[in-house]
Amino acid sequence: MSKYTLNVNGKARAVDVEADTPLLWALRDTLGLVGTKYGCGIGACGACTVHVDGQPARACQLPVSSIGKRRITTIEGLDARAMHPLQQAWTELDVPQCGYCQAGQIMTACALLKQHPKPTDAQIDDAMAGNLCRCATYVRIRAGIHRAAD
Ligand code: FES
Repeated sequence: MSKYTLNVNGKARAVDVEADTPLLWALRDTLGLVGTKYGCGIGACGACTVHVDGQPARACQLPVSSIGKRRITTIEGLDARAMHPLQQAWTELDVPQCGYCQAGQIMTACALLKQHPKPTDAQIDDAMAGNLCRCATYVRIRAGIHRAAD
């Protein structure tokens, strides 16, 4: 085990884990930030998406030892207000079905909106292509992104 200090949601958080522990498990098991979900563990589904220095990244594929001083943002730290516009839109439009993948969906959507504040359908589909939803809520996800961009 080794000690690391991670910058998570604006705070320095100490973790004591093996160097190759995926960030996902440090967040969930050590820091109790369980909003970030485990789906596949092989970087294929997007359920574990967080932001690293503002860019979407798959927490299951990032060893804790590789993080350094980079800023990690999880769904819990997405917005200092009560609800991020995406979370508001998700609620208004009942976007989730089972909900399991939705934190990852929102983190990817948030990064998209920073890059394209008024994204087209094509930009949404392109940005969101790596986030899988077994309930196939893709149409509502797209609508939610448009709502949040208004
Ligand atoms: Fe990380 Fe699926 S759990 S991409």
